[in-house]
Amino acid sequence: MVFKNLTPELAGMLSGIAGERISRNLVPGQDYLPASGKVMFEQDLLYGIDAVLDGWLTGGRFNKEFESRLAKMVGSRRALTVNSGSSANLLAVATLSSPRLGDRALKAGDEVITVASGFPTTVNPILQYHCTPVLLDVTLPGYNLDTSRLEEALSERTKAIMIAHTLGNPFDLDAVMSFAKRHGLWVIEDNCDALGAEYDGKKTGSFGHLGTCSFYPAHHITMGEGGALLINDPELIRIAESLRDWGRDCWCETGHDNTCRNRFNGQHGDLPFGYDHKYVYSERGYNFKITDIQAAIGLSQLDRIEPFAEKRRKNHRYLTRALNAVAGEDIITDLALPKATPSWFGCTVTLRDSFPGNRHELLQYLESQKIGSRLLFAGNILKQPGYRDMPHRVVGSLDRTDRVMNDTFWIGIWPGLEPVHLDYIAETVARYIDMKKK
Ligand SMILES: Cc1ncc(COP(=O)(O)O)c(C=O)c1O
Repeated sequence: MVFKNLTPELAGMLSGIAGERISRNLVPGQDYLPASGKVMFEQDLLYGIDAVLDGWLTGGRFNKEFESRLAKMVGSRRALTVNSGSSANLLAVATLSSPRLGDRALKAGDEVITVASGFPTTVNPILQYHCTPVLLDVTLPGYNLDTSRLEEALSERTKAIMIAHTLGNPFDLDAVMSFAKRHGLWVIEDNCDALGAEYDGKKTGSFGHLGTCSFYPAHHITMGEGGALLINDPELIRIAESLRDWGRDCWCETGHDNTCRNRFNGQHGDLPFGYDHKYVYSERGYNFKITDIQAAIGLSQLDRIEPFAEKRRKNHRYLTRALNAVAGEDIITDLALPKATPSWFGCTVTLRDSFPGNRHELLQYLESQKIGSRLLFAGNILKQPGYRDMPHRVVGSLDRTDRVMNDTFWIGIWPGLEPVHLDYIAETVARYIDMKKK
């Protein structure tokens, strides 16, 4: 992509101001080390400025290129940008609920297999479309769906599986995809925390009928706010495009009219003949589109996904080793499946009963030493105040999910962190253990 509006002089001037890498180096103990963060370069801002200077603002040339490059990178037929990962999840379920899919569509009362331990907006769309989440336990470590009980979870109403690759660690795609194929189920991969991860040499997000991404600043690449739906099936592409763009029947790009040259020539439903195709709605849709400024920043960040994912893997290896060196007997650290190449979002720790002290106290100690930490999102979603009455079915026990809710947390390994930061994190955990042992 070459700049259209930024002259070399102007770009040069702005470069002087921005510096090559914009994100500041953090000093351990002095600066707060967040659990997640964005790493931005001047190119990201220059792309954004070029998009502003286009004056087009809504999705345009940058969005088109971003969608095409993201799809190619992941290996999906189509990537459709949306304004968040949560919107991508909602759009995924809305797409599978389209009446155009006939008997295959998700309908009220149908069941969707998922987990209770995860991010709420993986489950919300299932509830919003009046389907029933069927909750299975997770493995520990791994923190992904325990596939050993999939057959038991099946009922006559089961229509889909919707699960995340937890914290960038691919779930068992062999087991999930073969189960889904055997029973004719839809699969939605929530890939929001896992961009760049692979399973058996293929990118996650491209296995299921639909995959979702988030480009919130905590994630692997960012555009401020944003997300994408990854789609392989042409029928689903047409439905999802319509649902993202107000539900319209016409396929003109934003700001363009009459691409089909039949704008005033059609008979649509019971509308009068020749009703403007621009205002014909074949779905009950949303407006989930992004601006070209977001797309421009995302496009620039996309150049770095491979080195970012590699740095995350390197940091994850380093911190896991360092934490095991100080507390190996008393903690459980991450584990990936043999065929998985994770694109880690964080480094998880589950405290064993033998751990001196407890999570509540440890996280506050880390915070006081300027180290950020995060819980594994909702823990057990059934215990969340907003979900007490949610319709659901549990298969087996959720014992490990409860363990995650009580004893698990994660620490940052984002590309802005270096060994000096990770050493400081491990030393601080060691200090806490020493204090508790005294
Ligand atoms: C697994 C998972 N799915 C979905 C989302 C939602 O993404 P967004 O924050 O872009 O709405 C998140 C957010 O971090 C997430 O972790």
